Amino acid sequence: MKVSVIGLGHVGSAVAYTLLSRSVASELMLVSGRLSRAEGEAADLTHANALLGTPTEVVAGEAADTAGSGLIVLCHSVPTQRAGRYLLAEGNGRLFRDTLPLLAEQSPNAIFLVVSNPVDALSYVALRATGFPPERVFGAGTVIDSGRFRAALSEEEGVHPEDVRAYVLGEHGDTQFAALSLARTGGVPLANPARAAEIFEEVKDAAYYVFQRKGYTNYAIAAAVGMIAGSIAQDECRTMPVSVLINGYLGVSGVCLSLPCVVGRGGVHRVLHPELTPSEADSFRASAQVVRTHIEQALA
Ligand code: 2OP
Repeated sequence: MKVSVIGLGHVGSAVAYTLLSRSVASELMLVSGRLSRAEGEAADLTHANALLGTPTEVVAGEAADTAGSGLIVLCHSVPTQRAGRYLLAEGNGRLFRDTLPLLAEQSPNAIFLVVSNPVDALSYVALRATGFPPERVFGAGTVIDSGRFRAALSEEEGVHPEDVRAYVLGEHGDTQFAALSLARTGGVPLANPARAAEIFEEVKDAAYYVFQRKGYTNYAIAAAVGMIAGSIAQDECRTMPVSVLINGYLGVSGVCLSLPCVVGRGGVHRVLHPELTPSEADSFRASAQVVRTHIEQALA
C-alpha cells in the first residue's frame, strides 16, 4: 500500500520512521512544506532501511505525488512555541482547508488519518475538506492517551500493559476522561478504581510534562500512529479509540471524538458505543461542547 506522510516536523519524521520500521507501506511518500526537507528525510530513511531491511521504497515529493495513496497521514501544522493543542485550531484549520482538497482529488480511495492538533476538530475539518465518508477520515484521537494510561495502570495492576483493557475517551485534550467502568484486567473489573482515577489524573497531562522539557512530543504519538496504520495495512481489525464523527451517541452529533472503533483495511469498520456511567456520559458530552468550539475556530 502506498502511504503518504504530509508534514515532516518532529511528529511527521517520527511517524515516517515508525511506518518504515513496521513495514506498513510498499511505498512511503514524504511531503513537506519544503521539498528539500522531504528529500533529506527520504534519503536518511532510505539509508536506515539499508539496515532495517524492510521492503519499503521511500520517496520525497509534493502534494501531486501522493496520487494513488491508500493511506494519507496528516502531520502538517503551523508552528507553535506554546503548549495547548487547541491554540492551533485556527491556523491548522486553514492549512487543512488549503491542502486537503488536492490530496483527496489525487487519492479518491484513500483513508485520511489525522494526527495534527487539535486532532478532533481537524478530523471534522478533514471530513468537510475531502468530502469522504466518515469511515475513511478519522483522527489518532486518544489512542496515545489510552496507551499512557494502560502503561501506568499495568504497574498498579501488576500485569502486562496489553492485558489492561482501559480506554481514555472523548477529546484528545483537556476534557478527555478515563472510562473506568469499562476497564478490565483479564475480564475482571479493576482492583482499585479509586487509585485508577488518581493514576489517570497523573497521566492525563503527560504531554504537557514532555512539551515543557523537550518542546514537543513525537515518539508516543508516532507509536500510536504506527499501531493504527498497521491495523489498516494488515487489516488487523484492532479495537482502538480513534476520533470519529459521532452520530447521535449520548445525544451528540456533528463532532469528532474518540470512541472504541474497529480499524481495518477499510478504515473504521465499526464504531462501538459502550454503556457509560451517567458521570462518564456527562464527560463525553462536555468533551463534545469543547471540541465544537475548536471546530468553529478551525472553520473561521
Ligand atoms: C500528545 O498528546 C501533543 O497531542 C500530542 O503527545
